[in-house]
Amino acid sequence: MELPDPRNAGILVSINGELKPRAEARVSVFDSSVQGGDAVWEGLRVYRGRVADLDRHLDRLFASAHAMAFAEAPPRETVRAALFETLRANGMTDGVHVRLTLSRGEKVTSGMSPEWNRSGCTLIVLPEWKALVYDPEGIRLITSSIRRNSPQCIDSKIHHANLINNILAKIEANHAGVDDALMLDLDGFVSETNATNVFLVRGGEVQTPHTHSCLPGVTRATVIEAAREDGLQVAETNLSLTEVYTADEMFTTGTAGALTPVLEVDGRRIGSGSRGPLTERLQRLHRERAYAEGEPIGLQAARANGRSETGVITGSTNGTRTGDGA
Ligand SMILES: Cc1ncc(COP(=O)(O)O)c(C=O)c1O
Repeated sequence: MELPDPRNAGILVSINGELKPRAEARVSVFDSSVQGGDAVWEGLRVYRGRVADLDRHLDRLFASAHAMAFAEAPPRETVRAALFETLRANGMTDGVHVRLTLSRGEKVTSGMSPEWNRSGCTLIVLPEWKALVYDPEGIRLITSSIRRNSPQCIDSKIHHANLINNILAKIEANHAGVDDALMLDLDGFVSETNATNVFLVRGGEVQTPHTHSCLPGVTRATVIEAAREDGLQVAETNLSLTEVYTADEMFTTGTAGALTPVLEVDGRRIGSGSRGPLTERLQRLHRERAYAEGEPIGLQAARANGRSETGVITGSTNGTRTGDGA
């Protein structure tokens, strides 16, 4: 099997605190993630020996687990310990993405009901060498025919692993030969893409949809903060497709791809058709925060891997436009 990054053939994955080589890292066929996508998750990024925005990600993970009424979620300290142990065991300090999944756990028989869950949650820490997943110079989008879940269906404030809504939109993007799909809410306003939050720039103001029907992204929140601290006006508001097509600049945000300029939507060029000045400024501000403010993994990982803590990757891509921001 050819891997996007061959280094990931040798990774160790943590399952309920036990480190397993990739080929042996398995969950039960009775696990709730298999039985119903009944799990919550976070994508984390490691920059220069630090896990970016860890507390915000863990807050969202535990809030999602609580909203889903998970019984016996592990303590926060257990999740943190499993994460840091896994990163150190893999000697990972930079250019790394971690998929942290917490499922409702193993069932005693197949079926939907959490009544069949009798042995606590399953915690998976899956770290991979992964450069930013989008071309930092920019991506192209189409608008999906699939509407993003409203709170009337599944509340998008739960970061759950039942991703069919987003995957159906991504299939449309793949068929159209573009990077990702823009998703609208039930009223036709822009929600987010299948894998990222979206921002527009118009007349110097930064605009983003409110979070009624999109994930309240961690990167979205840090970009809003960074923009306001830098003196920019930020509005959280309803945005129509026409406002997208006529914006001065557009970009997406997400842990896997950071800030990515959007150059085209539905065949319409956005702004100048290349990365705009405010997007570039916010990319820089976000990068500076991620480098300086993440939670340090500890020096062991750097020593284990014979690498320097100042790391290697500063925003390059893996050369492909997989666009799998999730
Ligand atoms: C649908 C969706 N929107 C946005 C995001 C970006 O969120 P964050 O910035 O917290 O990574 C994600 C990431 O998982 C996502 O799945």
